[in-house]
Amino acid sequence: MAGSAPEIDLTASARLSARGYRLVQWTGVTPPEHLDDLAVLIGRMSTDAPTGDLAFEPQRWDAERVRERDAVAVRNGVRAAVTAAQATDGRLVAYTEASTCVVADGFSSQGDTLVALAHRGHRLGLWIKLANLELLLRAHPEVRAIDTFNADDNRWMVAINEQLGFRPLRRQTDWELGL
Ligand SMILES: CC(C)(COP(=O)(O)OP(=O)(O)OC[C@H]1O[C@@H](n2cnc3c(N)ncnc32)[C@H](O)[C@@H]1OP(=O)(O)O)[C@@H](O)C(=O)NCCC(=O)NCCS
Repeated sequence: MAGSAPEIDLTASARLSARGYRLVQWTGVTPPEHLDDLAVLIGRMSTDAPTGDLAFEPQRWDAERVRERDAVAVRNGVRAAVTAAQATDGRLVAYTEASTCVVADGFSSQGDTLVALAHRGHRLGLWIKLANLELLLRAHPEVRAIDTFNADDNRWMVAINEQLGFRPLRRQTDWELGL
């Protein structure tokens, strides 16, 4: 991500568009009270994120799988910063995750970001990503660079990343062989 700060106050405008929602943040493993909601959202990543012509099967996630995923991350020295958005009924409807790894100090990887279909169009994606970058830097002030990847046809995520100041670094082609 480029070092320059966005010129306008993106957080204020995103928060305004997303009024009525509340942020929930944590680092490390998922708090038990959020496991079920997060599992639903993680499962939607496999169906909702555009992947060009590649065919991915829908993934099934539940609280136990999220717990296992978190435990594997801890064992591998991967530390997560997560920001989620809560609707007025208390359910999580959006989340974003960035991670650092003990073997790669100063570097962070932006992982999943998803807003549940019924809640899109309120700039929740931008708001949670901005808030998560702040959380990440509070938890890991040593971070100097963050990378991510997007499918070319994911113009919604690409637009958010461009607003945040991410710049293209390299292109990758994924190949698929049907067996
Ligand atoms: C990327 C994403 C988080 C953006 O959601 P968001 O924060 O609600 O998006 P915005 O509020 O910035 O939306 C801007 C406009 O694009 C529309 N939009 C956003 N995502 C859209 C999508 N996937 N398909 C169609 N339209 C979409 C919104 O409805 C809104 O339209 P409007 O201006 O007419 O109201 C969301 O599209 C998403 O969850 N996608 C699936 C998961 C994904 O692709 N993650 C990234 C993988 S790298």
